[in-house]
Amino acid sequence: MPAIAIIGAQWGDEGKGKATDLLGSRVDYVVKFNGGNNAGHTVVITQPDGSSEKYALHLLPSGILTPGCTPVIGNGVVVDLAVMFEELDALVARGVDVSRLQISANAHVIAEYNRALDKVTERFLGSRRIGTTGRGIGPTYADKMNRIGIRVQDLFDEKILTQKVEGVLELKNQVLTKIYNRRASTVEGTVEELLSYADRLRPMVSDTGLLLNQALDRGETVLLEAGQATLLDVDHGTYPFVTSSSATAGGACTGSGIPPTRLDRIIGIVKAYTTRVGEGPFPTELHDDAGEHLRKTGAEYGTTTGRPRRCGWYDAVIARYAARVNGVTDFVLTKLDVLTGLEQVPVCVAYDVDGTRHDEMPVNQSDFHHAVPIYEYLPGWWEDISQARTFEDLPANARAYVETVEAMSGARISAVGVGPSRDATVVRHDLV
Ligand code: GDP
Ligand code: IMO
Ligand code: MG
Repeated sequence: MPAIAIIGAQWGDEGKGKATDLLGSRVDYVVKFNGGNNAGHTVVITQPDGSSEKYALHLLPSGILTPGCTPVIGNGVVVDLAVMFEELDALVARGVDVSRLQISANAHVIAEYNRALDKVTERFLGSRRIGTTGRGIGPTYADKMNRIGIRVQDLFDEKILTQKVEGVLELKNQVLTKIYNRRASTVEGTVEELLSYADRLRPMVSDTGLLLNQALDRGETVLLEAGQATLLDVDHGTYPFVTSSSATAGGACTGSGIPPTRLDRIIGIVKAYTTRVGEGPFPTELHDDAGEHLRKTGAEYGTTTGRPRRCGWYDAVIARYAARVNGVTDFVLTKLDVLTGLEQVPVCVAYDVDGTRHDEMPVNQSDFHHAVPIYEYLPGWWEDISQARTFEDLPANARAYVETVEAMSGARISAVGVGPSRDATVVRHDLV
């Protein structure tokens, strides 16, 4: 029956992992459809004895933590095989059953030269750098679009793999040695490394598009979990300060093989304030004590690179944009607890660009770089809300914050996060 997509509504790290985990027990398949190990999802699971277990996932979908749920790496993903097996081994060592993992034969693999090129390109760009995670994501997607990528299925045909690697290295080695003054990669070394994973990989590889559509035919529930977010989407984000994949709802279809007509629900995950990692415009960014307060209180340090996240207030223009681009049916507003203890909470309702008010995202990138937030100030609250489990448990001003932000953001807020653990959530409307 339902196919549900979980999408980041801002610049990533909204708490998609926790939201996926929250729904996990009610879904049969969880699919990662874009990105690779640039993603970092922290999931905190409270044990029956009250202790909590923390997991940091990068390449694997967060649903891998849910017993009985089948995790899928879709065709839209770029896979670093060394990282994937490391992540799987680490989960197995902690007692997680990973045996059901399915990987699309059409997913692309990240090769050593792609990682090298990601790093040297950033260094070469200097002050114009993107601030990538350095995992080879951009170069691998560029190869895919250039039709010179290596796919998972190529690992099962040594002759084809060797031909492809020969072809691609002819080009890459020119760039690596002549432009960047780096060591060339060898065909034998590259092929050998990729083939070393083939035997372990083979039983996990399938036609995942077929698998997922058949599951939907049987009435099972499929959750599509985005990496990154709307403003990092290669088409709809703050280009060129974006990632290289389709992180929006359209990407959920192309990256999984599930057609748009089968998507029932699009859940946008939006933080009660805003964060960003890496370079690029960010109108509500705070460079003062308030930003430091959000970073400290919200523990805003990257799960993947450990970089401090840039912090700012909630931006309703961005939320409305995300609602429009993705067709968001429900928002999950996360980390409301982090706003506790503020006298007033600013919310950006529009931008001022050189004296002109913009209620929508400016189409021109330069205008967005110059956008000055126009704030509305909402009254704060001091009560600890981390134990709230129903909307009525929240203090009046926190409820008013949720309702005001909801009215500005283009879709209903169906759940509110009040802490990192799975159960620290206020559900207003059922999500599955
Ligand atoms: P993702 O990339 O969207 O999955 O998000 P990350 O895992 O990178 O970052 C979100 C962080 O916020 C994680 O450390 C979560 O454990 C934490 N988190 C998620 N929801 C809440 C919440 O409602 N309150 C608090 N305090 N932390 C949360
Ligand atoms: P999750 O899934 C936040 C950012 C990088 C950089 C830009 C391009 O945890 O929300 P890339 O390595 O993808 O080419 O880098 O995108 N970025 C993220 N920022 N959360 C993420 O993932 C991110 N994945 C990439 O910091 O600015
Ligand atoms: Mg993250």
